[in-house]
Amino acid sequence: MTAPGRPPVLVTGATGRIGRAVVDLLTDAGVPVRALVRGTGAAVDLPGTVETVTGDLTVPDSLAPALRDVGTVFLVWTAPPGTAAAVVDRLAADPRRVVYLSAPHRTPHPFFQQPNPMAAGHAEVERLIAATGLDATIVRPGMFASNALHWWSAAVRGDGVVRWPYGTAETAPVDDRDVAAVVARTLCEDGHGGGDYVLTGPESLTQAEQVRLLGDALGRRLTFEELPPDEFRRRSPVDARPAVDMLLAAWNAATGRPAYVTPTVADLLGRPARTFRQWATDHATAFTGAPPPR
Ligand SMILES: NC(=O)c1ccc[n+]([C@@H]2O[C@H](COP(=O)([O-])OP(=O)(O)OC[C@H]3O[C@@H](n4cnc5c(N)ncnc54)[C@H](OP(=O)(O)O)[C@@H]3O)[C@@H](O)[C@H]2O)c1
Repeated sequence: MTAPGRPPVLVTGATGRIGRAVVDLLTDAGVPVRALVRGTGAAVDLPGTVETVTGDLTVPDSLAPALRDVGTVFLVWTAPPGTAAAVVDRLAADPRRVVYLSAPHRTPHPFFQQPNPMAAGHAEVERLIAATGLDATIVRPGMFASNALHWWSAAVRGDGVVRWPYGTAETAPVDDRDVAAVVARTLCEDGHGGGDYVLTGPESLTQAEQVRLLGDALGRRLTFEELPPDEFRRRSPVDARPAVDMLLAAWNAATGRPAYVTPTVADLLGRPARTFRQWATDHATAFTGAPPPR
């Protein structure tokens, strides 16, 4: 249970990439954390001091126990958007602060301006939050550095040839730990109400350069082999097609220009944003050995 006296921060997406890191940062800082989880199995990996409460964003009534006596909420929305209005209404039923993990869909750079269902979903949740007058902070990371693990680890474990489209497209991968650190800061520190923060890594890198940097971190040569976009799409699982189409459109639009880079991580945290090289070095072991269970 949460310590008496101080209301807990409710962390949704607590078993995911950013939410899990936010849980750790808040816990390390002595902030009481309540984690929203969908099943007890997923919760076992959370620190013992974390209160876990079951609930599902697609079943708004299930959130009542999680929201009880909570003053601040970190909202991660990867579910279908159909229940967003009912959930935001519940958040707004009591005076609460909300930090919402969105994306830079308002940023006027072609990479972020390709219409896609994920951007539309984020825009809708933001619209709903704004309409309630909730005290909200919107955090908008660009590409997560950890996408490299999802995208390229199979090739790295295999023959070391990354067959991938748009090798010259530039992005500025942001370290997940920096995203989580900004979220934790905005959850705990006054003065971020109304904040709208676009987070990127510190440098623009082509996808081929990112693969090369990953090889440097692993101490081996990785080869980037250009794959035609149609072939990439054809090889993708059918259920991943919306995300694949979003990425292909973004990389295509980004080709031939530097990625959008903001100083926001450094401005908010008072230290430089981590580089992709640093991310790759710190995660090198995740690319070796047995693949994680699926
Ligand atoms: N990847 C990128 O490069 C990138 C860039 C910018 C923005 N984003 C945004 O970041 C968000 C994803 O963050 P992430 O990568 O940290 O998430 P993630 O690793 O994909 O994890 C999703 C989390 O949401 C939980 N969840 C899913 N459906 C739920 C539901 N119906 N009710 C309650 N919880 C639910 C999952 O819980 P279970 O364990 O129960 O599944 C999990 O904890 C997305 O909104 C995405 O658009 C991503």
